Amino acid sequence: MTNEQERKTILVLGGTGKTGRRVVERLRGRGVPVRVGSRSAGQPFDWTDRTTWAPVLRDVGAVYVSFYPDLAVPGAPETIGAFADLAVASGVDRLVLLSGRGEEEAQAAEKLIQSSGVEWTILRSSWFSQNFSEDYLREPVLGGEVVLPVGTVPEPFVDADDIAEVAVAALTEGGHAGQLHELTGPRLLTFADAVGEIARAAGRRIDFVSVSVEEYTGALAVEGVPVEVVELLTYLFTSVLDGRNAQVADGVQRALGRPPRDFADFAKDAAATGVWDRA
Ligand SMILES: NC(=O)c1ccc[n+]([C@@H]2O[C@H](COP(=O)([O-])OP(=O)(O)OC[C@H]3O[C@@H](n4cnc5c(N)ncnc54)[C@H](OP(=O)(O)O)[C@@H]3O)[C@@H](O)[C@H]2O)c1
Repeated sequence: MTNEQERKTILVLGGTGKTGRRVVERLRGRGVPVRVGSRSAGQPFDWTDRTTWAPVLRDVGAVYVSFYPDLAVPGAPETIGAFADLAVASGVDRLVLLSGRGEEEAQAAEKLIQSSGVEWTILRSSWFSQNFSEDYLREPVLGGEVVLPVGTVPEPFVDADDIAEVAVAALTEGGHAGQLHELTGPRLLTFADAVGEIARAAGRRIDFVSVSVEEYTGALAVEGVPVEVVELLTYLFTSVLDGRNAQVADGVQRALGRPPRDFADFAKDAAATGVWDRA
């Protein structure tokens, strides 16, 4: 890190989310000035309200760009492109984008970051292990039954701690500019395998049930889940899980010089925090 970069604030978008809060913790641990970019931050940032963008970019040298809800949603690339333009105009000289594998819209967003004119790093990541402990798959785990429209297509779940560690390296160190790091875990697991690992770690029975897309979306609609969320989940569980991502990549090893964390270790550590204990 140059002296100039040491002085400048790093903006972490989604800084209270699964990867962002881990990036914030690590940067603060290194004594780097950090600004959290989210709707609930002291200086609120909202992707849907462009008047909130310029204030959080003031005196910022680098940005961790974690979009919400998902880079796969229509219009996401245009929003990322507009944000990158403003960031560069505001003096930002390094952009680190959290992206997804096998998603057309996400890859379009990557291209806009790559052509922004400043140093860039892309973290093209597989499904996060923490979706089971900190997001929408936690409730089904607690309920003892995970029902999803996926069969035996395997996914190399990646640990959000690994993503955060690579992000911090890309934000603060040399050697990552112009790099596309494809970040996955060390092995492929089906969703049934993943739920089995969680059941073992939590010490109780949790069933995995594979259903059709129609059954799944029908159940979500009955629960009152908004239509755009149903569409996004359907896309993620069908197109993105059609086998296109069923291979591990070496991004964590290349970026950090060590292998990625295994899903079993994630499950053991998450279980120890009590996150899957029934009340
Ligand atoms: N989850 C996965 O398995 C996965 C895999 C690959 C790539 N990705 C990518 O990772 C990114 C983040 O997804 P995630 O699932 O990990 O979510 P997440 O980071 O856990 O999402 C929550 C974060 O977004 C903020 N947020 C929510 N709505 C916002 C808005 N309108 N404007 C600004 N900030 C907002 C939240 O803070 P506030 O509530 O305070 O606003 C919080 O910091 C997505 O772009 C997705 O494509 C996810």
